[in-house]
Amino acid sequence: MKVLVVGGGGREHALAWKIARSSRVDRVYCAPGNPGIAQVAECVDIAATDIDALGRFAVENRIDLTVVGPEDPLCQGIVDHFEGLGLRCFGPSARGAELEGSKAWCKAILRKYKIPTASSRTFDLYRDARRYIDSLEIFPVVLKASGLAAGKGVSICENREDALAELKVMMEDKKFGTAGRTVLVEEMLKGREASLLAFTDGQTIVPLESAQDHKAAFDGDRGPNTGGMGAFSPSDAISSKVMYQVESQILVPIVHALNREERPYRGLLYAGLMITGNGPKVLEFNVRFGDPETQPLLMRLKSDIVPLFESVIDGRLEDQEIEWDPRPAVCVVLASRGYPGEYVKHLGIHGLGDIQVGDDLQVFHAGTELRNKRVVTAGGRVLGVTALGQDLADASRRAYQAVEQIGFEGSFYRHDIARSLPQTSIVRESGA
Ligand code: AMP
Ligand code: GLY
Repeated sequence: MKVLVVGGGGREHALAWKIARSSRVDRVYCAPGNPGIAQVAECVDIAATDIDALGRFAVENRIDLTVVGPEDPLCQGIVDHFEGLGLRCFGPSARGAELEGSKAWCKAILRKYKIPTASSRTFDLYRDARRYIDSLEIFPVVLKASGLAAGKGVSICENREDALAELKVMMEDKKFGTAGRTVLVEEMLKGREASLLAFTDGQTIVPLESAQDHKAAFDGDRGPNTGGMGAFSPSDAISSKVMYQVESQILVPIVHALNREERPYRGLLYAGLMITGNGPKVLEFNVRFGDPETQPLLMRLKSDIVPLFESVIDGRLEDQEIEWDPRPAVCVVLASRGYPGEYVKHLGIHGLGDIQVGDDLQVFHAGTELRNKRVVTAGGRVLGVTALGQDLADASRRAYQAVEQIGFEGSFYRHDIARSLPQTSIVRESGA
């Protein structure tokens, strides 16, 4: 069969790499892809958000299955569009994707169905939000632009002044455009963060292994929030007790809620969680695979991923079982100086050819481009070096060994991915 992957980052490289290993697949295309993806798939020069052109390409090339990486085309309705063309496309409909596309709507659903999450208020008017922040007594608070803001629309504000300043930036100065038209002011949760991704066809839920992202730019969780500077799997923040709580208190109720709201959900559901002293609470839902969590997760996935996609689309996920490599995996991201702010592009990358990639080590390309036959940087997050190991320390050591051989002018990475875990986690304190 022929498979099209939509997107061109590290997550899509991992997806294309895994799909290309399927015995069912003859050909993999990726739009737009990148030079790393070009090693496992044929890259097609169509933007991930040009859903009309993607649809035409899929029809003309008789694509049997399309797998969508990023949230934007899902929120634009790529799955509905493809289904209208008689094509099979993995992911939720636009109505389902609103779970990520509108944090305000997501919050309203969480509240309505009593799914544990931070308490919060939603505002459409600057003046009302300002008055509310003026009346607050407890800080920090979390401000969130309701719409899609490429992972940058969340700000933790230490005090009232910061919160008022950030509110102005979001609602008055329109830093995130229309995404900041509606803003949530939210209680700050404390605990450990973890991600749990699950396949669902709207009836059956099949969770993946747990994973954990490192969002802050610098070592020790300092610096601004990024899309993710590294990830590892499994996460010790999710014990079997917490896993049970996540399934019964979060995953089952949200899938049920979406059915009740007549927005049946088929695809990958990503729960961003805070594991608090009172159990797991939802920070956000994403309607697609996480980046960079997908990189370590797919290195650990032993099963063929293609039947999983197909069974979600066909509503027969209950027949599927997933086999995992018990070994942990660690992904370390190499980023451009300045990221997540401004950065320079098109810098030559050295060392890529010296790395011996294989089943246990992969260099997933995130922001790269080919110029004059050379691989150069083309984004903030450039590469995701991902390794399996006997334990987390071993996986991390292997990933860093490779990271140290690669670089470009101004490249930086965190030195503590999967190495900075708290000695006592809330999970253990609660006796799990
Ligand atoms: P989100 O895009 O909603 O996941 O937010 C991005 C990041 O902000 C999360 O990964 C958390 O680190 C942090 N965050 C979001 N909401 C909260 C909250 N209510 N309490 C504490 N941290 C939060
Ligand atoms: N790594 C966070 C995300 O994919 O949203």
